[in-house]
Amino acid sequence: MRPFEYHNPVRIVFGAGAFKRLGDAAAAIGAHALVVSYADEPELTKIVQRGVQQLADSGLRVTPFFQVQPNPEVQMVQRGVQAARDNGVDCVIGIGGGSVMDTAKAIAAGVEYRGGDLWNMVNSRHDRQQVVPPETALPTLMVPTLAATGSEMNNCAVLSHRERGEKSYIWSDCLFPRTAILDPRLTYTLPRLQTACGGVDTISHVMEIYLNGQDQTDLLHAWQEGLMRTVIENLPTALADPRDRQAREELMWCATCAINGWASPGDPWTPMHQIGHVLTARHQVNHATSLALVMPAWMDFFKTAKPERYFRFARRVMHVDPHRRTREQIIDEGLEAFRQFIEQAGLPTRLSQVGIARDQLDPILEDVRRISFNARGQLASNPPVTEQQLMTILEKAL
Ligand code: NZQ
Ligand code: ZN
Repeated sequence: MRPFEYHNPVRIVFGAGAFKRLGDAAAAIGAHALVVSYADEPELTKIVQRGVQQLADSGLRVTPFFQVQPNPEVQMVQRGVQAARDNGVDCVIGIGGGSVMDTAKAIAAGVEYRGGDLWNMVNSRHDRQQVVPPETALPTLMVPTLAATGSEMNNCAVLSHRERGEKSYIWSDCLFPRTAILDPRLTYTLPRLQTACGGVDTISHVMEIYLNGQDQTDLLHAWQEGLMRTVIENLPTALADPRDRQAREELMWCATCAINGWASPGDPWTPMHQIGHVLTARHQVNHATSLALVMPAWMDFFKTAKPERYFRFARRVMHVDPHRRTREQIIDEGLEAFRQFIEQAGLPTRLSQVGIARDQLDPILEDVRRISFNARGQLASNPPVTEQQLMTILEKAL
């Protein structure tokens, strides 16, 4: 295993009905909350109203900021910072999915930011010197209503900049929420597509590390396999019955654990997400779809470079029957079964399915190079990916 340092200070309150504890949990971090949620989401309105009532019952003042759109823009975050400053809030509460939680984090950091333009917080290139990460933030509390991004228990937020055509990360320990309330019942109202997207995004977070991280670790690989397998077993159940409590519980805790650092200590790279962010910025596909379009082609490209890992994936995650099959056949069946799993959940796995053609690959590649390549001209991964290899992967994804 690689040497690592691990720190995660987020207090988790988990379980069906945990949402009732919002008022008490919030009173422990502040007296006047900016409550952040989506602009128009009728299903969530009831949940948000319940939350606001609980906060009032616990003696908190509330300033609403219900302006979040998926893939939050830095300009919208700026408006939230202004609202927080104008009203003198002392904490920020996000009730929603990754876009809401990331906005809440960015506002909390933005209120205290002294580094100039808020976009300076964003690592729009991984080795870029001029990034000025935030160092302090207002305390935050997260209530995820979508099991997907794991933002509720990590130190990351993802923002977009429309004019620049960029989507990238803020990383800073000041972004760790103080508390996250994980109530699987809040996900019962999710539309089918969002449930599927959440499952696929969760898998992608550990798959990034499983396939592209360190090689020498039994424990982490077993943990990653268990997480992917749990999503693969429970997602169809939640799609068939959105109110299946156990499936929703499993999916919710998987989403949190996939990207809270436990499955990836010592492994910082997320190369498939770097490509996915460009697909979202250029072609407006949602986050999980961008990953569904990349993962099968990526795996097909690297299967011969790491046959042992792909063989394990086929056997332990996709449960391919080895009887009368060669190792190569087992690996290929594992990859095909994974593609089928994504498609059966309702997401496309080929760029051509979302209207992206061969002549649109060069600009995609150029954006990945501009935003995410390191000083050596590679996309950081194990092994690192060159420009030419990236084009081959994109062509395979067509
Ligand atoms: O569009 P509407 O109809 O309003 O639907 C909302 C929302 O727009 C709906 N929704 C959420 N909870 C619901 C619900 N509908 C009914 N019932 C509920 N309980 O879901 C739509 C999508 O929400 P969004 O917050 O955009 O989804 P998600 O959680 O997938 O977040 C995606 C964002 O998180 C970033 C992504 O890049 C993207 O910007 N990520 C953040 C990460 C992090 N902070 O660590 C890591 C991830 O890899 C990811 O990059
Ligand atoms: Zn993701």
